[in-house]
Amino acid sequence: MAGYTDVAFRTIAVREGADCTYTELISADGVLRGSKNTVSLLSRSPEETYWGVQIFTSSPYAAGKAVEKILSLVTPTLFDLNCGCPVPKVVQHGGGAALLKDPSLIYLIVKTMNEATSLPITVKIRSGWDAESINYLETADAAFQGGASMVCLHPRTRTQGYGGKSDWNHLANLKTSLSIPVFGSGDLFTPQDVIRMLETTRCDGVMIARGAVGNPFIFTQVKSLMQGTPPRNIPKEKRLAVALLHLDLAISSLGEPLACREMRKHFCAYVKGIEGSAAFRNKIVHAETREQYYRLVEEFTQSHSS
Ligand SMILES: Cc1cc2nc3c(=O)[nH]c(=O)nc-3n(C[C@H](O)[C@H](O)[C@H](O)COP(=O)(O)O)c2cc1C
Repeated sequence: MAGYTDVAFRTIAVREGADCTYTELISADGVLRGSKNTVSLLSRSPEETYWGVQIFTSSPYAAGKAVEKILSLVTPTLFDLNCGCPVPKVVQHGGGAALLKDPSLIYLIVKTMNEATSLPITVKIRSGWDAESINYLETADAAFQGGASMVCLHPRTRTQGYGGKSDWNHLANLKTSLSIPVFGSGDLFTPQDVIRMLETTRCDGVMIARGAVGNPFIFTQVKSLMQGTPPRNIPKEKRLAVALLHLDLAISSLGEPLACREMRKHFCAYVKGIEGSAAFRNKIVHAETREQYYRLVEEFTQSHSS
């Protein structure tokens, strides 16, 4: 998730049970320009065993060259092509969800990526551009024909953005039609949601997105639930301790000033639902130093400890 799943967040996710992590979407053109900001998105934690690099582009040539350039810098487990991002600055250049309008271009990009590496290529799609152009069967088939090893479907249209409900029927339908693994994404906010998606759609795996923000505990909870143990509430002390670990990892990778700004949204998410958290959130959104974070957490812990 752009703006969230940087190396610090992913390290926490792995520690809390995530099996595979992906970078935020990375511009193939940015990689080729050698843009410092883009290349910094390629940091990998030693704790990330299975690590995918997701790129976006509308150019098969740039995709192939970006894969080669990335391989000269890092060795991921796999590459992913983003065909789902709805944001204007990506789709205006024909990337992300705009690719859904041209399955033959998806085919060409995936094929070129495949020619540039022997690593697996996976593809992330949405159901279609809008309700009038639902074409996930076609775009997934294009990815397959291009040599993709797995397709992940987020069954919303580009027009839907992240609103409304994802339509898991599309996922179930895709699963019956595609001969490579199908992963599901969309509205996985609780461990029970994950089990329900796996059972009702028969998909081969899931990708947890917003449900992990402030709640990386969901990964272990899913695994426990699969073993038959209902998830327990995560105590406030554990939530805050993990949030502070996350802060320290972010400081190591981003430096203190930027990490402290970036971590505000994460802290707000970590304390969601905890009694008295509204006042804490009002203060944390102004925190600028590590020391301020630690002091505010200490105050919050003491003011509401039972
Ligand atoms: C802020 C934000 C950033 C996202 N960035 C990416 C991205 O970089 N690459 C990607 O494949 N999906 C991205 N997504 C989509 C999610 O991976 C996921 O498919 C979508 O949120 C649906 O799952 P959910 O309803 O469980 O959150 C992003 C979603 C959000 C909300």
